[in-house]
Amino acid sequence: MKKIAVFTSGGDAPGMNACVRAVVRAALYNGLEVVGIRRGYKGMADADFIPMESHSVSDIIGLGGTILKSARFDEFREKEWRQKAYENCVKEGIDGLVAIGGNGTFTGAKLLMEDFGIPTIGCPGTIDNDLYGTDYTIGFDTAVNTALDAIDKIRDTAASHDRVFFVEVMGRDAGFIAMQSGIGGGAEDILVPEIPDSIDEVIDNLKKGGDKEKPSHIIVVAEGEEIGNAHFIAQKAKEAMPNLDIRVSNLGHIQRGGSPSAIDRILASRMGIAAVEGLIAGKSNVMAGVIDDKIAYTSFDDAINKKKPLDVELNKMVEILNS
Ligand code: F6P
Repeated sequence: MKKIAVFTSGGDAPGMNACVRAVVRAALYNGLEVVGIRRGYKGMADADFIPMESHSVSDIIGLGGTILKSARFDEFREKEWRQKAYENCVKEGIDGLVAIGGNGTFTGAKLLMEDFGIPTIGCPGTIDNDLYGTDYTIGFDTAVNTALDAIDKIRDTAASHDRVFFVEVMGRDAGFIAMQSGIGGGAEDILVPEIPDSIDEVIDNLKKGGDKEKPSHIIVVAEGEEIGNAHFIAQKAKEAMPNLDIRVSNLGHIQRGGSPSAIDRILASRMGIAAVEGLIAGKSNVMAGVIDDKIAYTSFDDAINKKKPLDVELNKMVEILNS
């Protein structure tokens, strides 16, 4: 292996830059040439390559977003786009890829690998933490802390006005951000897709809060919650308890931005180095994750298709902490 390329794809996540930096520096350390691909698979299909030197990644470890930019490029599902991307990689002399992203990114990498056999290793970069084969993904810790900071602020105004707030956090199909930020923020209830909930239970819980003379409430709702989004649930609660003063706050994309936490910077650096070392050792079609504080390589197939379990015992904690 002589030359590798690194790219970021899908939803950006804080710590992606730290990972790019680690890939570039680890490649140079091991005597490899390295290029960056701008805007993920779109850039691969457009031949948007940039040579990366050590200085190209100076002073980026603490930057949010991704200097390589990112894109969601659905066209990559079509073979003709993958063919174009592959041909561009061959022209550029690239014989290995490091893909930083989530589920969609690894699906693209797997297809490219299956079609053309270009060795690829993934680094899990998504705030959702929804990838099997790693305890945590790059960006999750920062996103949880961003959500927590917002919940703390909402708590101030909720308590001052005796209001009930439904706070919606990101996590397309997963409740990891909701569970962690909710517990950390002392939420009275947390609704996640992994645990069956019902409007009746939400209302009962609000009533219990009233009985305990606790007029303000924070209910954290994961974006993927099965009974509906925060606005829908708030509307149902309002219909059942018209005397409550209810508000909804959707935290949205602020959760994707900001300077990465120490945990994310270190995780991203470890994973970036592991990806390069894995490629050199002949690994491919795998994601470099961290399990029990040790580097672990998991097939793209498992990372994409196996469901990462949410520790449902955490919900018991929420019940105890709100007794
Ligand atoms: O996967 C990360 C994520 O932020 C999800 O939590 C969310 O559902 C999605 O991306 C939003 O994507 P976009 O920014 O493309 O709308």
